[in-house]
Amino acid sequence: LKPQAFADIVLQWQALHGRHDLPWQQPATPYRVLVSEIMLQQTQVSTVIPYFQRWLQAFPDLHSLANAEEDQVMALWQGLGYYSRARNLQKAAQYLTQEYQGEFPNSLTELEQIPGVGRYTAGAIRSFAFDDYGPIVDGNVRRLFCRFFAIAGAPLSSAVNKQLWQLAEQFTPQNNNRAFAQGLLDLGATVCTPKKPNCNDCPLQSNCIAFQQSRVDEFPNPKPK
Ligand code: ADE
Repeated sequence: LKPQAFADIVLQWQALHGRHDLPWQQPATPYRVLVSEIMLQQTQVSTVIPYFQRWLQAFPDLHSLANAEEDQVMALWQGLGYYSRARNLQKAAQYLTQEYQGEFPNSLTELEQIPGVGRYTAGAIRSFAFDDYGPIVDGNVRRLFCRFFAIAGAPLSSAVNKQLWQLAEQFTPQNNNRAFAQGLLDLGATVCTPKKPNCNDCPLQSNCIAFQQSRVDEFPNPKPK
C-alpha cells in the first residue's frame, strides 16, 4: 500500500471513528500537547484526564509552570508515578521561557532539545499542535506497524526500532498531520489492541500482512529468537 493511500485510509477512519473530544485536543496548543503527551507516556488516557484538567487550572501556561514551587508541581503529579516526568516538565517550561521567550520552536531538532522531549514527543508536538509533518512511534504505532508490515523481531530492539521510525517517516503524510497522528494512535488504542484486536473493524485489514497470513497473534513478537 502506498503511503498516501495508507494515510487516506487512516484519515477517513479517524474522521468517523477516532477521538475528537479529548481535553488536550481543544485547543491543541503546544503547551497543552506537551503536558498531555508527557502524562500519557506511562499512563492511560482515562487516568490522565483529571490530572490534566487540574494541572491546567494550576499552571495555565509555560510561565506559571516555570515559576511554580516544586512542591506544588509534585503535589499535582501525586498518583501519576514516574515523578521525573513532573520535574522534567517544569525544566521544559523553564528552558522554553529562557531560550525561546516562552514560545515553542517548530523544528523537530529544536523540539528534541527540550528537557524530557524525545523523538516521539517532538513528533507529537509537530503533529498535534502545529499540524505539521511529525512522525510518531509509540507503543500503539509500534504494535500496528509490526502487524501491518509483519515485522518479526523484538519491537524494542534497535534494528526493529530503526525500521519502525523509517516506516513512520515514510508513511506520515505532508498534510492533515494532526488528524493522521490521532488516527494512528486511536486505531492502535481501540482497534489494533494488544489482546484480541478487532480486525473486522479495521480499515487496514485487507492490506495488513499479519492479517492476510492469519498471523496477527504473532506480532509484535514478544520473544525474539
Ligand atoms: N496517547 C498518546 N498521545 C495520545 C493522544 N494525543 N490521544 C490519545 N492517546 C494518546
